[in-house]
Amino acid sequence: MRKLLGEIKASSLSAIEEAADPGALEAVRVAYLGKKGSLTSVLKQMGKLSAEERPVIGQLANEVRSAIEDAIAEKASQLSEALLELKLKSEKLDVTIPGKPVNTGKKHPMSIVLDEVVDIFTGMGYSVAEGPEVEFADYNFTKLNTSAGHPAREWQDTFYFTEDSSVLLRTQTSPVQIRVMETQRPPIRVISPGRVYRKDEVDATHSPMFHQVEGLVVDKGITMGDLKGTLNTLVKRLYGPDAQTRFRPHHFPFTEPSCEVDFQCFECRGQGCRVCKGEGWIEILGAGMVHPKVLEGCGIDTDVYSGFAFGVGLERLTMRRFNISDMRLLFENDMRFLGQF
Ligand code: DAH
Repeated sequence: MRKLLGEIKASSLSAIEEAADPGALEAVRVAYLGKKGSLTSVLKQMGKLSAEERPVIGQLANEVRSAIEDAIAEKASQLSEALLELKLKSEKLDVTIPGKPVNTGKKHPMSIVLDEVVDIFTGMGYSVAEGPEVEFADYNFTKLNTSAGHPAREWQDTFYFTEDSSVLLRTQTSPVQIRVMETQRPPIRVISPGRVYRKDEVDATHSPMFHQVEGLVVDKGITMGDLKGTLNTLVKRLYGPDAQTRFRPHHFPFTEPSCEVDFQCFECRGQGCRVCKGEGWIEILGAGMVHPKVLEGCGIDTDVYSGFAFGVGLERLTMRRFNISDMRLLFENDMRFLGQF
């Protein structure tokens, strides 16, 4: 039995040595130490030994077992190290290879200016309202004191959807005023940015789709002075403390009195040049005190409340902000242009 144990030890150790992968090593373990393994079957025959021999052979068998176990553990760690080595080699990284550039997006110049406008107004306590681009003529015109047959319905050259001219692409963001006043009670302080549509030919200053930001304030004791202060704040916050505005009387059906507001030409500072077509001033918005008929139509008591409203062209604000001379650049999506902002 002594001899048998010696043979088992020798053959198992060489089998362990030769195992090329964890699977083979496990097979060796089972062959020697498993339930039907050769060492196990030797141990099962211990009963046949004499009382003197049993402890001696028992100790020898234990030594053989632990020699095999140690050899297996040793081999297992060699194999896993070798495997790791192989993996590291095959997955080698060259950190000196130039990286692939990641193109990050940028904000469109109009989004930059709109975000600033929204910041300025939310800072003054306004909230932002939205309205549909496909609008009822009722909201775009009638409720804004622009009745059927009013020339505005033609001169604005509207895109109509229906024969009876009842549904259209909104020509202004002003209908959002009505939607707000029909659902909210004063005090009201909202701005409403969005797209508007008119049948205009594309040129350096026109597009059939452009953007406005509407503003509406309704509260007790609101005056034209509040309107002027608010719009001057907007212009100075956007363009700096030196920016000048000019208020001119005008007519809009939904405001009384109405005005147009210009800012001083950024190119010539009021002298008159190509950019301002010799005027020295550039028109940016329409505004006024909300017409009592409009307020009353929305159920607001004009003995208690008054309000002002304005609608400003976002393209013009943006063009002035970045000295862009042609509006088409804003819509052509040429990355060489847009990447500059
Ligand atoms: N909606 C007008 C336009 O598109 C601009 C405007 C004028 C808006 C007066 C207003 C306002 O809110 O009070 O020309």
